[in-house]
Amino acid sequence: MFSYIDHLECTQCGQTFPHNQVSKVSDCCGKVLFARYDLPRLRREGSREVFAGREPNMWRFAELMPVTDPAQVVTLGEGGTPLLAATNLQKKLGLQSLFIKEEGLNPTGTFKARGISAAVSKAAELGITGFTMPSAGNAAGAAAAYCARAARPVQVFMPQDAPPANKKESVMAGSQLNLVDGLISDAGRLAVAVAAEQNLFDLSTLKEPYRAEGKKTMGLEIAMQLGWKMPDAIIYPTGGGTGIIGMYKGFQELLELGWIEGTPPKFIAVQPTGCQPIVKAFNEGAATAETWANAATLADGLRVPGPFADYLILQAIRETGGTALAIEDADMVEAMYEIATEEGIIACPEGAATLVGLKQLVQQGFLGADETIVLLNTGSGYKYLDLIRDRN
Ligand SMILES: Cc1ncc(COP(=O)(O)O)c(C=O)c1O
Ligand SMILES: [Zn+2]
Repeated sequence: MFSYIDHLECTQCGQTFPHNQVSKVSDCCGKVLFARYDLPRLRREGSREVFAGREPNMWRFAELMPVTDPAQVVTLGEGGTPLLAATNLQKKLGLQSLFIKEEGLNPTGTFKARGISAAVSKAAELGITGFTMPSAGNAAGAAAAYCARAARPVQVFMPQDAPPANKKESVMAGSQLNLVDGLISDAGRLAVAVAAEQNLFDLSTLKEPYRAEGKKTMGLEIAMQLGWKMPDAIIYPTGGGTGIIGMYKGFQELLELGWIEGTPPKFIAVQPTGCQPIVKAFNEGAATAETWANAATLADGLRVPGPFADYLILQAIRETGGTALAIEDADMVEAMYEIATEEGIIACPEGAATLVGLKQLVQQGFLGADETIVLLNTGSGYKYLDLIRDRN
């Protein structure tokens, strides 16, 4: 059980780079670098059957993960989350096959654990000793936890009004918390500056190649949990878009390996009306997104006005015949109640946004009753109980 990583590739021009050195964005274009694996060799030597017998966390997919030395893996048991049949909601909406991927069960309560585990592990393997991390909140909490586990310092940067749970978990896990008067984009600029000044490695998503590899495992798991089949659609609450990009990459790798058949699911991006750069770009047929002015939403994870990998998110949506749509904050909170009432899942507002999106798409006829649909609940609602008011 070891990695088949082979090289890194520029997602803009295809130029390749070695993987066994510290990398950020591509030298050629300044764009996202993807990890590429020796898939023909893995196809000859490996089999999808081995995964089932391994510990049920994301590192069971070690062959398709970037870390070459298993001893370097920094883990809290991330991944291996359930794909829950949402039978009550399914019935209510007149659907036949609706699932919720319950990422709230991850360490630190969100899917961010996957990306951070992958990135910190690979960085440790490459000899990096300290980090910076800009975040809407959850990625910072995860970074604090995984860096604690890796015994490496991290400075996290998050907007002043980030959720209290994120501030507290970051402090508890011993990170240095910097509150920024601004948005995640401002936090990002600061994190990069401090990293350069103090010789630290900045973990901004998609500005290093490996967080996406962790997120990719959500796609690998979904395929495995559906009996090595892909769903027809995945509805994803989109901020920086790492999950869409990662899952799409994962499905493409499984297809190339011949371990699944068919076409990748329609990727559907849901964004709040107060910050919808991807929705606007998608509707206008643009290849990249303009920065969204005055971004405001109660879903902190979706308050990303200028996603760095906009072109990759838009490609994933278009190539799979997906779509992008905006929803209201108030509906998101209602949907938190509805998911809990119907399915017993305490979802984060971002995850609840996918249910609002689903209803719109069913009503419009974009999604059919017979389609297999997965909603991605990206995190636990227990981090957001302040949004919930008592009701009698
Ligand atoms: C709970 C939650 N959901 C969704 C997102 C958006 O994720 P992505 O950057 O992959 O689009 C975030 C990002 O902060 C988040 O914390
Ligand atoms: Zn390039």
